[in-house]
Amino acid sequence: MKFSKLILALALVSFVGVGVAQSEPGKEKDPLGPRVPADDMEEAKEWTNPFKPTPENIARGKALYNGKATCFTCHGNEGKGDGVAGAALDPGPRDFTNKGLSAKTDGEFMYVIQNGIEGTGMISYSPGIVTEEEAALILLFERSLHK
Ligand code: HEC
Repeated sequence: MKFSKLILALALVSFVGVGVAQSEPGKEKDPLGPRVPADDMEEAKEWTNPFKPTPENIARGKALYNGKATCFTCHGNEGKGDGVAGAALDPGPRDFTNKGLSAKTDGEFMYVIQNGIEGTGMISYSPGIVTEEEAALILLFERSLHK
């Protein structure tokens, strides 16, 4: 029947279409590439974390991350980028357990927390949702995951 052939053709086109697509929701894109605009990079890198990565401070950061800061909803409770709200995002949220992230500076991450990443689900979280001090503590937790 003509109609069923049409349905079949449409199904095939959408199937092939998905295969050809460059990106997939929930998947990271170029995780180790810079996210701070080139013009702001030098200044962003000047920021250093005023807190020491003591077990207490890392625990405070983790509590904020998994609490009022809401980072866990996208980045996952243990930072693997597998939070439920991140599954539909394209690009997907960062997996903080990526060892390569050690090469990025605290200042770059702070810039992203304060300014977001344009065109992605990563919006600005500070100073709106957490203070700069709280964001700094969250960064200690995040860094403890790049192993
Ligand atoms: C609504 C989902 C969502 C929430 C909530 C969220 N993020 Fe993200 N985040 C993303 C996405 C998506 C990306 C990846 C964007 C990209 O690849 O450009 C990202 C990327 C990042 C990066 C990577 C920067 C880099 O240079 O690689 C950092 C750091 C980050 N988020 C920190 C946080 C922190 C801290 C919180 C909580 C205060 C948070 N995010 C909350 C979606 C989210």
